[in-house]
Amino acid sequence: DSNFFRYTGTTLCCDDVKLEELAANFGTPLFVTSRRSVIESYKAFECAFEALPHFTCYSVKANYNLSVIRTLAELGCGCDVNSAGELYRALQSGVSPDKIIFAGVGKREDEIVYALQSGVLMLKAESLSELRAIDRIAGELGLTASVAIRINPNVTAETHPYITTGDSKEKFGIDEAELSTVFSLLSRLPNIKLVGLDMHIGSQIFDPEYYVAATVKLLAIFKASRELGFAIEFLDIGGGFPVTYDPLKPATPIEHFAEKLVPMLLPLDVKVIFEPGRYLVANASVLLTRILYKKSNHTGKQFFVVDAGMTELIRPALYQSHHEVQSVTFHEEEVIADVVGPICESSDFFARHRAIGAAEEGELLAVMSAGAYAAVMSSNYNGRLRPAEVLVNGSEVKLVRKRETLEQLVQNELT
Ligand code: LLP
Repeated sequence: DSNFFRYTGTTLCCDDVKLEELAANFGTPLFVTSRRSVIESYKAFECAFEALPHFTCYSVKANYNLSVIRTLAELGCGCDVNSAGELYRALQSGVSPDKIIFAGVGKREDEIVYALQSGVLMLKAESLSELRAIDRIAGELGLTASVAIRINPNVTAETHPYITTGDSKEKFGIDEAELSTVFSLLSRLPNIKLVGLDMHIGSQIFDPEYYVAATVKLLAIFKASRELGFAIEFLDIGGGFPVTYDPLKPATPIEHFAEKLVPMLLPLDVKVIFEPGRYLVANASVLLTRILYKKSNHTGKQFFVVDAGMTELIRPALYQSHHEVQSVTFHEEEVIADVVGPICESSDFFARHRAIGAAEEGELLAVMSAGAYAAVMSSNYNGRLRPAEVLVNGSEVKLVRKRETLEQLVQNELT
């Protein structure tokens, strides 16, 4: 487990930089990302799947900061995008359009136009109606659309119910029962070239067997589609590979997924696509926050009231997710406390009843594993300003997103 956030003496550092210094220079709350950590995670992923001809498309929804996307793109990684906004971000980061795949259960017409005109590698279609729409729009533009169909493999992966996607209860993908209609429709749509089959069964999936079960289904469909004369070039297995948030619940190593999947996919004459998001970035960042107040109540309960909240990291509130919280200055003594934010919601907490270093008011805490689905899910609720973000590379520090200002908060409003 590569850990780029470590104590040097008694102070927590990111690579060679003291978090204390970053807070002094850039203020809090602050997202701090280790560039080296992102690179290491990508290399570990690539190494695990080395034996398999494949193409990794970073799912930029996990962390779409331009510098994070660029870091991965420089290593040859492609991008999985889910909207015009994410496509724009990927293109702005310098990713070549032929390395971008475009997903989304509800693509608007303008998004389909934008994706086709940009020349993305493929659009992943999720319904019969969407296939008809893509065909019509491609025809109007005088283009042929390269399309993959997203299959709903009806595999219920064990994870939080809000992040399971490959189950027939969910809105995602095309149902197996509809596939014969899809294939006969596709042979009548002149402006679509079917190039791939795609799936994504969910997120933070610990057991490789779910991937195996879904891949078995995908392979049967692959075989059937080839028999029907479709020249499928790509099989997209999706993302969802797990990371460790809680040291007591370590994630299954990525090699275990590769051990199961590579032998299934290697014999096929096809290029495999993976779409990891969380795996590449979750443990690359912390959310740095300052303790504003400490208080306790008659039950003996202690609270650390900090200057970051659910507006910066909504995962504990939304999915009951565990994030480690570390005092930036190491304290031998620990206290049991709740770490809570300033937002007027009871769900605004980072940790409950947790042993934390006995820090004083004014000291810093680091909320760990804040690289995926944190900054990207931030909001202006309660009039909050989105935090600044810095990228650390060894001893170098780069501000990669400025803190929002009060003026920006109202700039789009007309009075
Ligand atoms: N591909 C597709 C089509 C997806 O919908 C997703 C994630 C991914 C790839 C990347 O999944 P990953 O490798 O990051 O697990 N906000 C939630 C996670 C939502 C995931 C949405 N889709 C969370 O904080 O846990």
